[in-house]
Amino acid sequence: MLDLLVTNANLTDGKAVDIAVADGRISEVAPGIKGPAHEVIDAAGQLVTAPFVDSHFHMDSTLTCGLPRHNESGTLLEGIMLWDELKPSLTAEAVKERALELCRWSIARGTLAIRSHVDVSDPSLLAVEVLLEVREELRPWLDLQLVAFPQNGYLRQPGAVHNLARALDLGVEVVGGIPHFERSEAQGRESVRLLCELAAARDLPVDMHCDESDDPWSRQVEELAAQTQRLGLHGRVSGSHLTSMHSMDNYYVSKLMALMQEAQLHVIANPLINITLQGRHDTYPKRRGMTRVKELMAAGINVAMGHDCVMDPWYRLGSHDMLDVAHMGLHVGHLTGRGEMLAAFDAVTKNGAAILQLGDYGIEKGNSADFVILQCTDPVEALRLRPVRLYVVRRGKVVAETAPVFSRVAMGETRYDVSFKMP
Ligand code: FE2
Repeated sequence: MLDLLVTNANLTDGKAVDIAVADGRISEVAPGIKGPAHEVIDAAGQLVTAPFVDSHFHMDSTLTCGLPRHNESGTLLEGIMLWDELKPSLTAEAVKERALELCRWSIARGTLAIRSHVDVSDPSLLAVEVLLEVREELRPWLDLQLVAFPQNGYLRQPGAVHNLARALDLGVEVVGGIPHFERSEAQGRESVRLLCELAAARDLPVDMHCDESDDPWSRQVEELAAQTQRLGLHGRVSGSHLTSMHSMDNYYVSKLMALMQEAQLHVIANPLINITLQGRHDTYPKRRGMTRVKELMAAGINVAMGHDCVMDPWYRLGSHDMLDVAHMGLHVGHLTGRGEMLAAFDAVTKNGAAILQLGDYGIEKGNSADFVILQCTDPVEALRLRPVRLYVVRRGKVVAETAPVFSRVAMGETRYDVSFKMP
């Protein structure tokens, strides 16, 4: 007896299959699977995908926008100032309540794995302790991975070196950094070296906020690639944001991308946030605030896209929908070819899963029975419509449902059902 049978599923590669689930795992993926099963869902030709993955988020600051006031300049630096104003008044209860609410939004949207940076600047490590609790409580529903993030600088802020090590001792599993925020370019490089050595010594992955700037001379990613190469951390290091690459000289970028590829760096672009934060010092033309996603992908580098923020000091919009992220990313990055759109879909699914090293991810026999059924037929339609997530399944159980949406237009006596598809 199967626990769950999903019939008439349309996978992201266009294959029409049934999906059988037993003991929380996918037991078979093939056309024409017969039951019996405790529960049968007829997907009716709709898209069934592995869950969305948010590879870059900030769970400690989420849902705080307006506290104590809004970011009126729209800049990264005012966001950091606002967060510094808010931090002393944070309580464990409020941080936890907001994190749990955000995670419920994520689950409803079909996002079942999140890598969240957590600020370790506050010596109390209040947010670290809260998010470690949230990580354990939510394990049946969602994989939460935490990055020790020295928001105010690893070398710039007194005590940050000690606080970051304490966060890792408590169980935070990724080493973060923010080299472009250190006091000098040299100290930024020094922070990259020290943090990569720390990660190597503790056998942990690295994920740094890196070159989140419009300054073409912000080149800390070069050091990140060099240290990754020197310490043999290939495939375990991610550069988040890398927005300065947008403004760099093309000749230098051609050298840089080869070094990144050699070090097997992962790249995480955050299009929703960086299209609004970057370019704020420009008149016209205003630069786009996203790294060179298309070229990095073409160079064979694994590129994912993250949501980064939802309703916090840096970004007051969003409902934690990874299809919003991919939709913005493909517009900003000119990813409009069919293959490029599929790559944008991968950037919020399997590319992120590779960064989080989710071992049993994907709709294949033997993997965890985690998937999402959408009200559309293929990934390009998912990007165009950002449709309802009809069912979200985790370990073989339905953990979220949303009713399908239909529209009816009245024109005189006639009623038209509108499905937003070509006639
Ligand atoms: Fe970030």
